[in-house]
Amino acid sequence: MSVSEQAKTAIEAKLIPIYIMGKKYEVPETLTIMKAMEYAGYQYIRGCGCRGGVCGACSTVYRKPGDYKIYTGLACQTVVEPEMYLTQLPFYPAIRSSYNFAELSGKPEEIFELYPEIFRCVACNACSKVCPMDVEVMDYISELKRGDIAAAAHTSFDCIQCGLCASRCYGEMPQYHIAQLARRIYGAYLTPPSEHLKTMVANIQAGRFKDGLTELKAMGENDLKSTYQEREMEPAVAGEDWTPKETKYL
Ligand code: FES
Repeated sequence: MSVSEQAKTAIEAKLIPIYIMGKKYEVPETLTIMKAMEYAGYQYIRGCGCRGGVCGACSTVYRKPGDYKIYTGLACQTVVEPEMYLTQLPFYPAIRSSYNFAELSGKPEEIFELYPEIFRCVACNACSKVCPMDVEVMDYISELKRGDIAAAAHTSFDCIQCGLCASRCYGEMPQYHIAQLARRIYGAYLTPPSEHLKTMVANIQAGRFKDGLTELKAMGENDLKSTYQEREMEPAVAGEDWTPKETKYL
């Protein structure tokens, strides 16, 4: 839907009451929390990034009337509901251990030393239940406790670092930071080195793209735009062996 269509839908939508930081506003019922806050006059300076549910910057907590439960979500993905009480949680203060990655060797014991609180997990699974990306947080913590870094890297792959898991943890652990370290170790020590990447880095170092970049840098805005728009793109459905017609920079 285009921006003007979205605006039209919002104008036609029924207004519902919501509470932002304790103050009541009437907002169109079709909006996400993020858009409803902007509709109400708030301006995001922090706590907003991609607007598409992938950067994890817009955690929000809310209650619904007559419901004991506290709900969580991403402001850019969660649609408003009547009478919801909400507040933004752009940053959850979790401790990230400090380490020099180059000095690590990738053993599970290093994760245990950096994050000993991992063993405080009481397996309540509140972390998984709160995750807006449906990551099985408790499972990857269990995998790490067993020393299976590869499994934890895969299980946590969809994590967007919003920190909501840490906000619910009885063991007071920063699960998302721990998982990030696991994925770094997995990428650096456990996956086979990428030959293609090595070749491309060597190509860059050898100056293979220098002329092309110089050409692009010399272009005016319009030429740059049309060059971009007219570029050959990979089809939406392409086989593994697809290559562009222009192979100059492959
Ligand atoms: S703004 Fe990036 S996840 Fe919501």
